[in-house]
Amino acid sequence: MSANGVREQYESLPYPARDPRDESRRLIVGSPSHLAEIDHYVLGGRLDAGWIAAGRPFRALVAGGGTGDATVMLAQQARDRGLKAEILHVDLSDASIAVASARARARGLDGVAFRQGSFLNPLPEAPFDYIDCCGVLHHLPDPAAGIAALAAALAPHGGIGLMLYGALGRRGVYDVQEILRTLAPDGAPGPRVATARRLLQALPQTNWLARNPFIADHLKGDDAGLFDLLLHPVDRAYRVPDILALLDGAALAAAAFLPEILYEPGTHLADAALNRRVAGAAQQERWALAELISGAMSKHVLYALPRARADRSPPRSDDPDVIPVPKDIDPAQLAAALLNGQVPVVTVGAVRHRPTVSAAAAKVLAHVDGVRSLRAIHSRMQQDKRILALDDVVGAFGALYAALRPLGSLLLKRGAGG
Ligand SMILES: C[S@@+](CC[C@H](N)C(=O)[O-])C[C@H]1O[C@@H](n2cnc3c(N)ncnc32)[C@H](O)[C@@H]1O
Repeated sequence: MSANGVREQYESLPYPARDPRDESRRLIVGSPSHLAEIDHYVLGGRLDAGWIAAGRPFRALVAGGGTGDATVMLAQQARDRGLKAEILHVDLSDASIAVASARARARGLDGVAFRQGSFLNPLPEAPFDYIDCCGVLHHLPDPAAGIAALAAALAPHGGIGLMLYGALGRRGVYDVQEILRTLAPDGAPGPRVATARRLLQALPQTNWLARNPFIADHLKGDDAGLFDLLLHPVDRAYRVPDILALLDGAALAAAAFLPEILYEPGTHLADAALNRRVAGAAQQERWALAELISGAMSKHVLYALPRARADRSPPRSDDPDVIPVPKDIDPAQLAAALLNGQVPVVTVGAVRHRPTVSAAAAKVLAHVDGVRSLRAIHSRMQQDKRILALDDVVGAFGALYAALRPLGSLLLKRGAGG
């Protein structure tokens, strides 16, 4: 199927379906491309020093930006953080761009340029500090050419946030796509969607999609989601090793798969002896094993970097000048709960997890605000006469970070001084 078929689909059914009027009541945030994640996983925590304090614009490409989720999130978070951003949103579909640009306008966001076209063509604005490509490469006739085009547009210090479909968690999707190639091979989207809905009603419980609890786009009700899932003309899914090979072909490597906790085999294996065996495996093997053991990953979110930098991206958690950044948690509230002996159950994907956090770590957490470094937290705690040595704070923070970072709740950055 041609790239034209893909364009036609997104002209008639921009995906995901979004209403610009909703911007007044909520900001959609997620991974990849949350600015705190980009700083942590891609920029080594240097966004404040290298861009904000330096007055240098942060240059991002949103490749196949669709109806604007990443573009709007990035532009809004940049503005909230006092970062001057220059964002180029490229998409094949005029209809999708119309929605995305209306959303940016509704928020009064500047610094965003929209362009109809293919990111496979050279972009004169390159190189970019960051590239978002979420849910796009698996819809290209040649994903290797897609990732190569992105790698070519990336600055050496930059990185790429990707989302690719996961093969195991999408079990049954491709069976139903195949059935629909017979029952609704072509024609207008409306009648094809109607046939797909009819088929879903009629499927037996033995059908793999009917049995798959990890796929919900066809149950939400909107036509764009259903078409994207079951009638897409170009769609493939990946296992972790396929993704690593795809990246390798473009001289890139994965820095992290998110949420990190799902990519640790031990998260899914209820057997201590087996866990000890897999804990010794190399990182890439652990990512792959976690996917195989879980069986639930219907998408993979990851940050990819030029190969030479992939293993040394995040700042170090034992550096006293590092600044802990809370994400999607209220540190004071969580610390109070932990100190009261209430350990919250966190649901990540199909996993329910109870983080282990010591009292010393919870006391450090109470002072985390995204601004104070570990050194500043230590000074405050000294005033409270709680902990005296900086090493104690750094040590307790290490344990806290090991418990909360895999959940995506605690990241790191450096201060404006570097
Ligand atoms: C599934 S949507 C994802 C949209 C968006 N990235 C998101 O996550 O919400 C895929 C988008 O990629 C666009 N697309 C596909 N191939 C493209 C290409 N070669 N150049 C630019 N856009 C492309 C489609 O038009 C569509 O809007």
